Amino acid sequence: MTAQNSPRLRDLAAQHGFYVGTAVHTGAFTRAEAPYCDLLKREFNVIVAENMMKFVELSPAPDTYAWNAADALVDFAAANDMKLRGHTLVWHQQLPQWVTHRSWTPEEARSLLERHIKTVVGRYRGRVWAWDVVNEAIADTGGYRSDSFWYQQLGAEYIALAFQWAHEADPNAILYYNDYEAEGLSPKSDSVYELVRDLKQAEVPIHGVGWQMHLSEGWRVTAEHRSNAERLRGLGLELSMTEMDVRLSTPASAAQLESQARSYGEAMELALETCAALLTWGFTDKYSWIPGFRPGYGAALPFDADYQAKPAYTAMQQALLGAAQTAPLDQGA
Ligand code: G3I
Repeated sequence: MTAQNSPRLRDLAAQHGFYVGTAVHTGAFTRAEAPYCDLLKREFNVIVAENMMKFVELSPAPDTYAWNAADALVDFAAANDMKLRGHTLVWHQQLPQWVTHRSWTPEEARSLLERHIKTVVGRYRGRVWAWDVVNEAIADTGGYRSDSFWYQQLGAEYIALAFQWAHEADPNAILYYNDYEAEGLSPKSDSVYELVRDLKQAEVPIHGVGWQMHLSEGWRVTAEHRSNAERLRGLGLELSMTEMDVRLSTPASAAQLESQARSYGEAMELALETCAALLTWGFTDKYSWIPGFRPGYGAALPFDADYQAKPAYTAMQQALLGAAQTAPLDQGA
């Protein structure tokens, strides 16, 4: 926990018209775990479903939608004055077998994707602030990800189509392209830049780029991040840090936690200068994807498994407080 009189991240962020948030764990949320939900409401003014809004979770069988968990999250965000990010409409992972384990004609695949996007975005029209329309379409070495079901079925045009369909279903939603390890300057981030540049030039309704920020110990902001942010924003696009965590080898030492705090503090400072929002991918080490996917690593989030604030939380708070002292408060907040 944090001291009762400690300023909350969401209150500090609101002073700048900024949004700080986190991904919501399906189990903890649907079980309504009190310490989890209480901290979620107290600290964050934007949330996103870690898994509840993915294709496989929403549509586990043909012509079948399971809305309960996602509906509850949408209602929770509204009830707690939170913005909601939608994650994610088009991804190469977490697709149901009824989609991937049969052959489709291009026309059938196109119709399937259009129907999914318009069904989901249409259901939450006006209630989702920003959608991760397309997630991770660029390969780690640059160029299109060729192991994407959608790329294999439709070629690269699936990307522009997805944005167009999402826009038709909710003209007011902010539409993002979201990816990982494309925050600095690299062949991958060059491909992301070229992709969104070409979409903008073709007048495809894309509005933002998400930097996932899945980071390792020792990460620091560099001039490359600032250059990449500048060129993306130069296209008229919004930026957000969408899935931040800083994995540590475990068990983590005090020195590692201090280094992690510096990563979070520097990221928050950069986000306040360049982004609309900073979200972490979970907020407590009790519920993080990392230990299961990266054995030997964890302790990646701002609160420990007992919901105690870590130095990373304090660093985020200090960055927000520092911004409060250097920039005029947003009178509209
Ligand atoms: O829901 C099923 C459950 O029915 C089944 O019993 C259980 C055991 O097989 O699996 C459950 O699904 C798991 C799902 O998380 C929900 O818990 C999947 O196996 C598991 O692979 C899935 O992991 C998610 C991962 O994406 C999939 O690649 C993580 O929770 C989630 O944090 C992670 O999030 C992604 C973002 O969406 C995109 N950016 C990268 C980020 C980290 O990989």
